[in-house]
Amino acid sequence: MDNLETNHRGVWSSKIAFVLAAAGSAIGPGNIWRFPMVVGNNGGAVFVLVYVLAVVLIGFPVMLAEFSLGRYAQRNPVGAFERIKPKSPWKLNGYLGIISAFFILSYVCMIAGWAAGYFIKVVSGVFKGEITSQFAEKVFRDFNSDTTQILLLLLFSVAITVYIVSKGIKGGIERWVKVLMPFLFILLIVLAVYATTLPGAGKGLSFYLKPDFSKLSGKVILFALGQAFFSLSLGMGIMITYGSYVRKSENLISLSGWVCLSDTFIALLAGFIIFPTLFAISGTSPASGPGLAFQVFPLILSRIPGGFIFGAFFFILLFVAAITSTISLLEVPVSFAIDELKWSRKKATYVIGFLAFIFGIPSSLSSGGMRFFTKIDFFGKVDFFFGNASLVINALIICIFLGYVWGLKKAVQEVKSGAPRFKLHPLWVFSLKFLSPVVIIFILYFLF
Ligand code: PHE
Repeated sequence: MDNLETNHRGVWSSKIAFVLAAAGSAIGPGNIWRFPMVVGNNGGAVFVLVYVLAVVLIGFPVMLAEFSLGRYAQRNPVGAFERIKPKSPWKLNGYLGIISAFFILSYVCMIAGWAAGYFIKVVSGVFKGEITSQFAEKVFRDFNSDTTQILLLLLFSVAITVYIVSKGIKGGIERWVKVLMPFLFILLIVLAVYATTLPGAGKGLSFYLKPDFSKLSGKVILFALGQAFFSLSLGMGIMITYGSYVRKSENLISLSGWVCLSDTFIALLAGFIIFPTLFAISGTSPASGPGLAFQVFPLILSRIPGGFIFGAFFFILLFVAAITSTISLLEVPVSFAIDELKWSRKKATYVIGFLAFIFGIPSSLSSGGMRFFTKIDFFGKVDFFFGNASLVINALIICIFLGYVWGLKKAVQEVKSGAPRFKLHPLWVFSLKFLSPVVIIFILYFLF
């Protein structure tokens, strides 16, 4: 079944390319922009704790599940369910994933556009000198009320994504990512060291690290789980699609492990920058919505020596990290359109990219660009339904499908073809069959 070489959807040129592509999908604005935002909105350290548990106990097993499903079926998410259980409603879960991917694409492109816009701000000297938090807030507000500019930036990110995906995944992107991702790591570490040693950083650190268990609630668990899926690119078929390009001889366990580890590490690092900086420099409460990262990073960047260079680099890297995510998001509906609707790659990317731009407009106008969308918090709602609830539901269905329909025996066998020892498989089975479904059903029950 190894159709890697003949697959018209494109192939990864090497194992490292694949790991990077999967990590590139996972690492993105979800880590640097969304993670601090949800930590801030959900009580700080207690959320962080639940988040880490969610990644280890549920995220990692679900990632391995998606990879093994994809590699076994050698199909896009809809085709994968169809191949294993033909003519059954299970494939609807594939559709759910594709729809979520499409909507998430629309607003991750918006965030990529913000990063590009902030890059321009840095190089044009907007953040010269030690800026105040009021100034950073004002910049963000003004930035978002310039409707034309915000939509042009959205268009710009969609266009780049479409361009790359229309060329097929094998192009230059692999090389790019290989060089740029390590840079992002290093830059974030430098910023984190600087932020945590700021005078007054202690309060931020304790908000981030000292759990206040009275803040634990169903909502915290739902958001932590949703964030884990969002950040790891799970629950929408991306890893099923990517898994379908992996050779049988490859070790899916270490692959999933590396992706989870690097993704979580980057998210935690972002928190080590945002919260100390926030508490040390500004008085803003951490729950300040989607602008949080964009209001806080300039504060720290304007204070470190050589901040101009660091700042320029930072926003370029954030942009690149976002684009490696949007590529994967566009690839899901595109590969579906190619396989199932028999569209050409070009037609699929152009049509779907155009639609993503259209759907991205209301989200882009939700942070002050247009009163109506801001008032109904259009973006917040899309983010909640497609970037959180639907991912959790999708993952639940994957667990049930693997646990009770396809059968974990076959799934374990699939994993074993590249990792013959797989000693921990009883734990994996336990998580997919019992733990994950029970936790997900529990939080959905309390929420809806
Ligand atoms: N995981 C990406 C991030 O952390 C975003 C993303 C979500 C990408 C869902 C693909 C699917 O930014």
